[in-house]
Amino acid sequence: MSTIESVLQENRVFPPSAAFAAQANVAGMAAYQALVAKAAADYEGFWAELARQHITWSKPFSQVLDESNAPFYKWFADGELNVSYNCLDRHLPARADKTALIFEADDGTVSKVTYQELYHRVCQFANGLKSLGVQKGDRVIIYMPMSVEAVVAMQACARIGAIHSVVFGGFSAKALHERIQDARAKVVVTADESLRGGKAVPLKAAVDEAMAMGDVDNVQKIVVYRRSGAAVPMQAGRDLWWHDLVKGQADSCEAVPMNAEDPLFILYTSGSTGKPKGVQHATGGYLLGAILSMQWVFDAKPDTDVYWCTADVGWITGHTYVAYGPLALGMTEVIFEGVPTYPSAARFWEMIARHKVTTFYTAPTAIRSLIKLGADLPRQHDLSSLRLLGTVGEPINPEAWMWYYEVVGQSRCPIVDTWWQTETGSNMISPLPGATPIKPGTCTLPLPGIMAEIVDETGHPVPQGSGGMLVIKRPFPSQLRTLWGDPERFKKTYFPEELGGKTYLAGDSSRRDEDGYFWIMGRIDDVLNVSGHRLGTMEIESALVANPMVAEAAVVGKPHEIKGEAVVAYVVLKRARPTGEEAKKIVAELRDWVGKEIGPIAKPDEIRFGDNLPKTRSGKIMRRLLRAIAKGEEITQDVSTLENPAILEQLKEAVA
Ligand code: WTA
Repeated sequence: MSTIESVLQENRVFPPSAAFAAQANVAGMAAYQALVAKAAADYEGFWAELARQHITWSKPFSQVLDESNAPFYKWFADGELNVSYNCLDRHLPARADKTALIFEADDGTVSKVTYQELYHRVCQFANGLKSLGVQKGDRVIIYMPMSVEAVVAMQACARIGAIHSVVFGGFSAKALHERIQDARAKVVVTADESLRGGKAVPLKAAVDEAMAMGDVDNVQKIVVYRRSGAAVPMQAGRDLWWHDLVKGQADSCEAVPMNAEDPLFILYTSGSTGKPKGVQHATGGYLLGAILSMQWVFDAKPDTDVYWCTADVGWITGHTYVAYGPLALGMTEVIFEGVPTYPSAARFWEMIARHKVTTFYTAPTAIRSLIKLGADLPRQHDLSSLRLLGTVGEPINPEAWMWYYEVVGQSRCPIVDTWWQTETGSNMISPLPGATPIKPGTCTLPLPGIMAEIVDETGHPVPQGSGGMLVIKRPFPSQLRTLWGDPERFKKTYFPEELGGKTYLAGDSSRRDEDGYFWIMGRIDDVLNVSGHRLGTMEIESALVANPMVAEAAVVGKPHEIKGEAVVAYVVLKRARPTGEEAKKIVAELRDWVGKEIGPIAKPDEIRFGDNLPKTRSGKIMRRLLRAIAKGEEITQDVSTLENPAILEQLKEAVA
C-alpha cells in the first residue's frame, strides 16, 4: 500500500506537445471530450457509426446492442463480416506491396512479408486446414513460437471461421493438455522447437507429452512448423509438416462471412479457482475494439508508422496488438522471436533503430529489467524514429515511467499506459496521446464510450480519492461474450448479483485522483501479476498439492523489484518439516514440479515450510497473515481467531 500512497502524490504532468497534437487522430482534450459526450448522448448510435466507418461488412447490421439476455450481450448481431478479410483483402487494392510484417528472428535474421504475400500464405494455410477437415466452429489449438506462421495460423482460422485458442509456448505439457481437452480441439498447430535467447524450447515434444496424457481423442491432426530443424518424432496418420500441408494448396481462399457474434477465439486466462477460464471473444465487437484503440490510443498512421508490440501471441496483447489490430489498419509491424536481453540488453534499442520503429509497446517488467541491465544503453542507439511509447500489463512505477519517458522517448514521445484485460479484448483506460496530459503511474481516463467507474461492495460510487472496485457500467463491443463451456462461471465472475448482474466487474481495485484519473492498485481476487502475466494462486496451490510429498499449500504474492510481484508458497509436507540441505533440495524439486505442471513463469520464488498453515478455528487459511510474513512485515493484525498462532514464528523462517 505504501507505494500506492506515494504514487498518488505524483504531480508531474506532461501535456502532449503541440507537434504531436497537431498530427494526432484525436487532437486536444476538447476532441476527446466531444467523443465522450457523443457516446453519453447516444450510446448505440456512437458505436454503430464507428462500426460502419471502420469495418468492412459483407452484410450490414441493423441491430446494434442487444441486451435482452443480459449479461450475454450481443453487438451488431445481424451483421456479417470476416476478420481476416478486414485484415488482408481490403488492403490489397492500395497496399499489396506494402510490408505487413517485419520478422526478426532470435539470431537477428530479418525477413519481410508484404500484404500480398501474407494474404497468399494465410489462404494456403486456410486451405490446408480445410483439407484436414477443419470447419467453421471447430477449435484449433496454436502452440507456436513468435513467428510469421503463428500470425498466419490465427488469420487462417479467422478466415474459415475456425475458433483458435493460442496457448503460450512457455506453458507446460500439462497446461496444454488441459486446454486441448477443455476446447475439444480438432487440430493442434505447433513447431518442432522455439528459439529464445539462444536456447531451444521443445514444443512438439510438449504436444506429444500432452497427447500421451490421454482423453484427447478429439485431436485428429497435429501440424508441425519446422523452425529449428531439430529431429522430432512424427506419428504417422496424426502428425504432418506445415510445409507439406501447404504444398500445392491454392493461394486464394474464401473469407467465410461470419456472424458478428460468432466466436473468433478462446484464450485461457487465470482466475481465482484452479481451473483456467476460456475467455471467448466475438467477431465483430472484438475487431471494432482492436481498430478503435489502434486509432485512438496508438494514433495509427498506416502510411508512415512502424508499429512494434513486444507481446507474445500467447497473450491477449499479442492477439489484439500483433495478430489483428495492426493488420486491420494496414500497418507495418515488427514481430520478434526472441527475448529483450539476448544477445544483450540493448536488443530492443538496436531493433528500434534497425527497423525505424515509430510506436513501441511493451511491459513495465521489461522496462524495469532493462533499466537494471543498462540504463544508459538506449542513449547509444538512434531512437529518433520513435514517436509514441506504450505500456501494458501492470501498474508502472513512476521511476520506471520517467526513465522510459526521458531516456527511451527522449522527452518527445507520449506514453500510453493502457489498462485492459484478456476479457475486455482491447484497451479500456488509457491516455489518447494527442489529447490527454499524462502523469507517471496512471492509466488516466477511459476511452470514449467506456463507462468505467469505481464502486464499493454495494455498487455505489466511492468518493474521489477512495479505493474501490473497478467496474464498467455499460456493455461495450469488445468485451468477452462468455467463458467457453461455463456460462454460469461467466455470470458469477464478471456480472455478480451483488452489483445488479449487469455491471462488468474487472477484478481490479482502483482510485481516481482530483483529475478523475484512474490509479490501478491491484487485483481484488486471488490472482497474481508476475511480470505482467496473470497467475491464479489456486492454480499454483493445486499444482503443489498434486506433488506426492505435499499435504497442503498456500500461495501469496509479494512485491518484487523487476517482476512486480513474486510468488511465495507456504508448504506443509506429509513428512516432518525439512530443514537445512534437505529443505533446499525439496525447494528445488517443488519449483521444477510447478514448472512442469504450469510453466516456468509459475515457479515459486520462495518456498517456506511449516508444520501447518495459519488457520481460523473454522479452518480458513488466513492469507493476509501469509502476505504480511512474505513481505517481512511486523504482524499487527489481530491473531486471536487463529487456531494455531505459534505457527507464525515457524513460517517467518525463510528457506534460502
Ligand atoms: C493488470 C493484459 C495496471 C490488471 C492486457 C488487469 C494493469 C490484468 C494494466 C489483466 C495497467 C493490465 N496498469 N494494471 N496499464 N494493464 N493490468 O488479462 O490487474 O493478462 O486486471 O491482460 O493486468 O491481465 P491480462
